[in-house]
Amino acid sequence: MKEIKKIALLTGGGDCSGLNAVIRAIVKSAILKYNYEVIGFKGGYHGLYTDDYIKMDLQTISGIFHQGGTILKMSNKDNLFKYKMTDENGKVVYKDVSDIAIANLKKHNIDALIIIGGDGTLTSARDFARKGINVVGIPKTIDNDVPATEITFGYRTALDHIMLSLDALHTTAYSHDRVMILEVMGRNAGWLALEGGIAGSADVILIPEIPYDINTVAQTIFDRYNRGSKFTIICVSEGAKPLGGDVTIKAIDKDSPDSVKLGGIGDLLARQLDKIIKPVTGQDIRVTTLGYIQRGGVTNTYDRVLGTKYGSYAVEMIANNEFGRMVVIRNARMDSVRIEEVVGSGQTGQTSTGGARIVNPHGDLVNAAKDIGITFGE
Ligand code: F6P
Repeated sequence: MKEIKKIALLTGGGDCSGLNAVIRAIVKSAILKYNYEVIGFKGGYHGLYTDDYIKMDLQTISGIFHQGGTILKMSNKDNLFKYKMTDENGKVVYKDVSDIAIANLKKHNIDALIIIGGDGTLTSARDFARKGINVVGIPKTIDNDVPATEITFGYRTALDHIMLSLDALHTTAYSHDRVMILEVMGRNAGWLALEGGIAGSADVILIPEIPYDINTVAQTIFDRYNRGSKFTIICVSEGAKPLGGDVTIKAIDKDSPDSVKLGGIGDLLARQLDKIIKPVTGQDIRVTTLGYIQRGGVTNTYDRVLGTKYGSYAVEMIANNEFGRMVVIRNARMDSVRIEEVVGSGQTGQTSTGGARIVNPHGDLVNAAKDIGITFGE
């Protein structure tokens, strides 16, 4: 067993609640239980490349537990194996600068590196592991779509935002007899819309896993109107798509591992529904896109505890020399899998072992929602 004296960590990709809880748990358990030295690279892989780091002690992580975001900052644009730079003629070129990062780790005598991130960040974690670095990965996303783990931190806090937003939208929907659409995040997985929608009492939930028919959605609004419920609440996932159609794309960001940025389905739905609904019931349709609010704010109870479990387990794995692996929760217990098995899902949702964890259209959650009259627009 390699004796561990000093470890490093970094956060990569897009932020979510619970990251600071993970950082705090890593630093506390590394120092208090194992007496390791800890440094944190700033801005994700960018800090590893430029050697921008801070020494982390108990003072550094004091008071951060409840805060969203990450005190280490992060970036989803710094793939060190394909790093964007300009050559002497000002032309954009992509270079493998991973050896510079590895030299920085050696310079600091880092025995193990904890990498906290989503699919893109963990794909690089795999590549560093292949180059001999002692890596432990921790999955992070509000989307809750990471294969092999039952739940990721940040998800439950995001659900709280969705639920509270739907609660708030109900009052205007009721007062004005309106159709209210809430567009939520989730990429190609419908978990946020599904569980947030159930908790927030949505009447219609549209998710990527169940393509919708606009006429079925309209019929639900008519049915509710005719029985005296003159408002309807729709919770739509950014990745939802019509039957036979495709997702709505907001932008393409070539420098991001998730180059396709979803968004705009709420407005599209409103335009489509307005043509069918307005002439019959006269109802107005309004759209709210919840956006990055879902990733921020005060970390909730669940994610503080979950982040603590993920962080302390990662340090335990280092102590046991379990490298090249990612922390997961399986059957409600902490465990780990080889990073190789879970990365590479990207925007397609596909990994080498079968893909992102998406909603089962015939599973208990969807069935429970249907049982209480929620429509999926099929
Ligand atoms: O994966 C988390 C997530 O918030 C998705 O739900 C969303 O589609 C995406 O990130 C947004 O990415 P960006 O921060 O690059 O706009």
